[in-house]
Amino acid sequence: MGPGALGPDPLPDSFILQPPVFYPVIPYVTTIFGGLHAGKMVMIQGVVPPDAQRFQIDFQCGCSLQPRPDIAIHFNPRFYTNKPHVICNTLHWGRWQREVRWPHLALGKGDSFLILFLFGNEDVKVSVNGHHFLHYPYRLPLSRVDTVGVFGHIFVKAVGFLNSNPFVEGGTAYPVGHPFLLKNSRLAVPCIWPLPRGLWPEQVIVVRGLVCPNPQQFTLSLQDDSTQPPMKFEVCFRNRTLAWISSWGRKKPISAPFIFHPGCFFEVLLLCKGNGLKLALNGNAVGAASLGQRALESLRELRISGSVELYCVQC
Ligand code: GAL
Repeated sequence: MGPGALGPDPLPDSFILQPPVFYPVIPYVTTIFGGLHAGKMVMIQGVVPPDAQRFQIDFQCGCSLQPRPDIAIHFNPRFYTNKPHVICNTLHWGRWQREVRWPHLALGKGDSFLILFLFGNEDVKVSVNGHHFLHYPYRLPLSRVDTVGVFGHIFVKAVGFLNSNPFVEGGTAYPVGHPFLLKNSRLAVPCIWPLPRGLWPEQVIVVRGLVCPNPQQFTLSLQDDSTQPPMKFEVCFRNRTLAWISSWGRKKPISAPFIFHPGCFFEVLLLCKGNGLKLALNGNAVGAASLGQRALESLRELRISGSVELYCVQC
């Protein structure tokens, strides 16, 4: 048997993107692939039921029921007083430590929410609906956490596991949580996303989705007013290769692990930097393409086509 006869080469761990989970039944407990480390994010999208008393999102060290695992971060919104608030705490050897109370939770019964946990070196930062809400310093090593559990009165639409933008220095900048758009007609492929002001330095484009069975092709075309896009990112499923294609048809291969397998989730991130675009796949920087400042400014739309189902496009 030659190389590759047993299927694709295994992906390096850092390129494996844990798939999001949609509409899980509560209580929901799952392993966090590779555990938690600084730079990882967990995003929970959902709704507080109208009669909610409390719910909790626990970042646990294991998932046994008996004995109870340690809980490094217990994030517990409570709605039974008329002032919704959050309690954070740590459960160590079956005992709750000193709890911390965070008042003024801008979330009430019946509200939709997007809660984003960004794990840093020293603490976890939590934002609620795009606003920073709290930070909780670790009391147990983050490296012990390998499980997330969601319990109580909560309706969950999606749980996402994300890496922060690899191009941000130190990976600690407060990220924007871009929700998964479920059953959204704007995401039906092929689709066009306007870039009314072109691309400017530091602008980020994120495309998240799922590769369909028997995929044929997948392209992201950055289009200006001409018929030939100045730059295309192209995935060739047959040869398992990636390339940039410039307007005069020149193809520049991208050397990166191939992440686009049928049924697998992916994240493509493009960052406009200097005179070009930096590319990250599943949270890993893999290269750049140069276009020139004028060309970047004159881009007008992003066209996405091919054998993918999209969950999030942010320009
Ligand atoms: C207890 C409650 C636990 C947990 C803990 C946090 O009163 O029963 O579920 O929320 O507070 O300190």
